[in-house]
Amino acid sequence: MDDDKLLSGDKANDEEASLEKSLRPQTLAQYIGQDRVKHELSVYIEAARKREESLDHVLLYGPPGLGKTTLAMVIANEMQVNIRTTSGPAIEKPGDLVALLNELQPGDILFIDEIHRLPKIVEEMLYSAMEDFFVDIVVGQGPTAHPVHFPLPPFTLIGATTRAGMLSAPLRDRFGIVEHMAYYEVDDLTDIVKRTADIFQTSIKPSGAHEIARRSRGTPRIANRLFKRIRDFAEVADQDAIDEAIVDRSLTYLRVDDAGLDETDNKLLRTMLEYYDGGPVGLATIAANIGEETDTIAEVVEPYLLQIGFLKRTQRGRVVTIKGYQHLGFPYPQNKLG
Ligand SMILES: Nc1ncnc2c1ncn2[C@@H]1O[C@H](COP(=O)(O)OP(=O)(O)O)[C@@H](O)[C@H]1O
Ligand SMILES: [Mg+2]
Repeated sequence: MDDDKLLSGDKANDEEASLEKSLRPQTLAQYIGQDRVKHELSVYIEAARKREESLDHVLLYGPPGLGKTTLAMVIANEMQVNIRTTSGPAIEKPGDLVALLNELQPGDILFIDEIHRLPKIVEEMLYSAMEDFFVDIVVGQGPTAHPVHFPLPPFTLIGATTRAGMLSAPLRDRFGIVEHMAYYEVDDLTDIVKRTADIFQTSIKPSGAHEIARRSRGTPRIANRLFKRIRDFAEVADQDAIDEAIVDRSLTYLRVDDAGLDETDNKLLRTMLEYYDGGPVGLATIAANIGEETDTIAEVVEPYLLQIGFLKRTQRGRVVTIKGYQHLGFPYPQNKLG
């Protein structure tokens, strides 16, 4: 990688990091949408606080960008405890986990992102930590090696994952609170876009906010990202308020189509129609054909296409629905109407 690329990459990351930070709601009240999840959590948080106990372990699962990390921080804030953040692949060996657990104060939260990617031996150590607040570790080597029983303060583990199905049953069963994060309704996303515009001191017409929301794949992270780009287009066009027309022009330029699908979504659908008669096709085959990781297809691309009914799952693979054909302007084959 040349220096220029490195620099611009870093700058973009810094910008993104500070944006993400300023946009993160701090309290459940500020957290928009996910009403069922918020309501349940508010009950458990209030009960734990009344009993002066640590909150039960929480598993948050759902596609990327829906606010799992944000919610973990909101929970810590509402519980008025510290939160330590790490991720599954970052905890390579049991010693890494012990080091993290050792720093916790009673009631603190350990947040493990991508918890489905924990190494097996670390995961197994987590069982006793979660259930009975201790770990057994082996200290020393060779003939002097001996087991040590290591008690832990009561703590709360919050795990986040895009792949609940990849979590082992013993780990999943140790979470007392399991919450599914769903794609956002357009109305909630509209409020998120308005809030973002407010934070960036940018004026936006209700129709502009609605149009961004409608075309953000139900995902706050995408809505915020598109908002930032559209704000640039409005700035350059010397337009004081973001309206529907500038949103539409910017999104066309960014190749986000009328249904909010991006190039990868469209490529997937088109490949299935052109080469596989609309399916059924397996995930790995699709991934290989469009040059994407199977994980990306499974975690990011497919869930939204299933959600809006452009794809469906069958026992033999994925199939494009009538709606999917219509979206791409392809006639639905007569023999499929059957
Ligand atoms: N309910 C929400 N209200 C307002 N902003 C949100 C909400 N959920 C997510 N966001 C914003 O969307 C972005 C992505 O959220 P994040 O928590 O990182 O998602 P995840 O961890 O699920 O990938 C962040 O900038 C966050 O501030
Ligand atoms: Mg996250």
